[in-house]
Amino acid sequence: MSASKLVRPSVDYQESFLEALAEYHEKNRYLYNDISLLKGDFKAFVKELKTEHGYPHQPYQEWVEPVQETVTWLVKDGKYIGTVDIRHRLNWHLEKWGGHIHFVIRPSMRGMGFGKKILFKAIPIANYLGIDKALLTVHPDNKAALHVIESCGGVFDDELPATDQFPARKRYWLDCT
Ligand SMILES: CC(C)(COP(=O)(O)OP(=O)(O)OC[C@H]1O[C@@H](n2cnc3c(N)ncnc32)[C@H](O)[C@@H]1OP(=O)(O)O)[C@@H](O)C(=O)NCCC(=O)NCCS
Repeated sequence: MSASKLVRPSVDYQESFLEALAEYHEKNRYLYNDISLLKGDFKAFVKELKTEHGYPHQPYQEWVEPVQETVTWLVKDGKYIGTVDIRHRLNWHLEKWGGHIHFVIRPSMRGMGFGKKILFKAIPIANYLGIDKALLTVHPDNKAALHVIESCGGVFDDELPATDQFPARKRYWLDCT
């Protein structure tokens, strides 16, 4: 059994990543990633993730300025467990609703401590990318994410109410120095 670690996306994790994607789809997440298309050319998908074209993905592309994003995967024993995306800077949308760091653990691996691990391990990467204080934004009802962010040292800043287009958000700053 190996320890969990963050890696760049790689074809080595294709099978477990696609299994996880099916789990995400069941939760209505990442529906824009079509499993059969990715299966057909996973190498191209990985290459695209590593080119750091950046955030935002669909559906905001046309009206939000893109920023570079580094994507890493949490893996353990050769299997994909979760994703952490680190945006190199903020745009107006990320300042309110996205933050610098977004993390997700595949549904079947939640509640085992990997949420804390993935965020904790992302801190030095954010630091390496030049981020001294990382913004994290989270829905006020997302108790698990709030707990992870606070456990990793996130400091509460403010709470934004829901708008017609966007959900409510609590905003936290995480020291990455
Ligand atoms: C948030 C998320 C990453 C947490 O992952 P996880 O692997 O379940 O997290 P952990 O196992 O490390 O649990 C973190 C803590 O939250 C607690 N927790 C979990 N669910 C909880 C809930 N509903 N209410 C209160 N606390 C909860 C756990 O008990 C644990 O605390 P502990 O270590 O003190 O016991 C996961 O739920 C997820 O991927 N959600 C969807 C994406 C998301 O919301 N990302 C965050 C937005 S940036």
